[in-house]
Amino acid sequence: MQEKVKEYYGKTIKNTSDLKTSACCSADALPLHVRAALKEIDNEILDKFYGCGSPIPYAIDGSVILDLGSGTGRDVYVASKLVGEKGRVIGVDMTDEQLEVARRHVGSQMERFGFLEPNVEFHKGYIEDLKPLGIKDNSVDIVISNCVINLSQDKKAVFSEIFRVLKEGGEFYFSDVFSDRRLPTHLQKDPVFVGECLGGALYIEDFRRMLRELGCLDYRVVTSRKLSLDDPKMEEMAGDISFYSMTIRAFKLNTLEDICENYGQTAKYLGTIAESRDSFTLDDHHIFTVGEAVVVCGNTASMLEETRYSDHFEVTGDRSVHSGKFPCDCNDAEIKTETKSSGCC
Ligand SMILES: C[S@@+](CC[C@H](N)C(=O)[O-])C[C@H]1O[C@@H](n2cnc3c(N)ncnc32)[C@H](O)[C@@H]1O
Repeated sequence: MQEKVKEYYGKTIKNTSDLKTSACCSADALPLHVRAALKEIDNEILDKFYGCGSPIPYAIDGSVILDLGSGTGRDVYVASKLVGEKGRVIGVDMTDEQLEVARRHVGSQMERFGFLEPNVEFHKGYIEDLKPLGIKDNSVDIVISNCVINLSQDKKAVFSEIFRVLKEGGEFYFSDVFSDRRLPTHLQKDPVFVGECLGGALYIEDFRRMLRELGCLDYRVVTSRKLSLDDPKMEEMAGDISFYSMTIRAFKLNTLEDICENYGQTAKYLGTIAESRDSFTLDDHHIFTVGEAVVVCGNTASMLEETRYSDHFEVTGDRSVHSGKFPCDCNDAEIKTETKSSGCC
């Protein structure tokens, strides 16, 4: 199957318009900071973009970022511009043709950004095993990935590598295709279904289980969009199965609990993230308006005060006084068909 995926991205499809569904083609409204960076990226890279979201979080200046399945490098170059010369972005992909395009543009992209030294590197390798590439334990601030993990035959190995290489407090921010049920074997093995990022889509509850087994007890859905299968044959093959492009964030934090607990804590956004001064979106039901203290569960408090976001939030309280279960579950694994702007937290 891995060879078929290589062939699909290396030889079968040449650019975004060759895709048969909207699965690998992002329709997310892009954040302003990403849109601005995209203006400086070569058309050849943009034409060969096969992502399904925009996994570029805020406040990444100076960070070390790892992009799993970097393709022709669109997200690597966007991140390169945003982390600046003091940051570093590492792209990993297994397909020669994709890497060739990505690498050929390093010099011209650095020139466009005005960087004296390249802050990007592209490695040929497999996202299931990053050790041969020299990516060390606890060495990366943020792992990103755009429509790739669904293609892996060993997703647990991928998630395990992510939590190995992330620093404590580091963030895993990715866009991928999820399904509302487990797929039958014939669809899991259909080369076009797989190539189009559907055959390997993770059933959302299995994703939750996998992360829990690896010790990540809480993750957050940032956006969720139902995919349309624009090809009648594929639509018929899919039957009742629904597919979603979701952007998800998770943190490497050993303080997270399996359900939200109430310690009477509050969090206030200070308005200090340049790309988003008026508000900060943690997930689909936590949009923090600048200056407003919001009651949060222990897990949300940890995500804001034990990560790089701590400079941008004032979090009150600690875990010394427990008031029982938090009134709602922020780690709601259910598939949501649209982004909500407010919630019970
Ligand atoms: C749908 S494309 C997305 C590429 C890129 N992220 C983008 O947004 O344009 C999937 C990419 O993942 C790569 N890929 C798939 N499985 C992989 C694996 N197990 N290890 C490394 N790369 C992989 C493919 O070669 C391809 O370039």
